[in-house]
Amino acid sequence: LNYPKQTAGRGFCVVELLNGKKILITQVLGRVFLESLDCPVQALEELLSQYRLGGNVAAVFVDIHAEATAEKLSFGYCFDGRVSVVAGTHTHIPTADARILPSGTAYITDVGMCGDYNSVLGFEKEAPIARLRRQYPTDRLIPSKGEGSVWGIFVETDDISGMATHIKQFSYVPE
Ligand SMILES: [Fe+2]
Repeated sequence: LNYPKQTAGRGFCVVELLNGKKILITQVLGRVFLESLDCPVQALEELLSQYRLGGNVAAVFVDIHAEATAEKLSFGYCFDGRVSVVAGTHTHIPTADARILPSGTAYITDVGMCGDYNSVLGFEKEAPIARLRRQYPTDRLIPSKGEGSVWGIFVETDDISGMATHIKQFSYVPE
């Protein structure tokens, strides 16, 4: 089986495609509501000191897993022109702002989730509603088992620069 080769490290992996090109994939965590974490900007800058776009990697895909839209947007502009993609996750709700930033990084604040949207972030509604009413966690969260939707992005990058040339949001939503 021609499975791509991978090198993994702390919070990242490098996938070697069948054509020999390598893609760096990494995830950083935001700090709004999670102040005890290390700085995501410094973490990515350290990683980028070993992997250079258009040098030893053909594309750099960054997932910023964070709560606040302003934090994710600031992070995107901070790395605009230095990575191929900054895609937000964690809220489970897709945003309608997929675009290419001025210096060539594809960006979206949140790609959304793949799962049952007739739920609260993929969980059966009862426990989150009880929490809303009582202000503290009560019942266990149970994964919702309804039919799933799929949300994501498709990004095309330039072979030489590694910058994004195209970003398109896609979805499959059952009837
Ligand atoms: Fe999360």
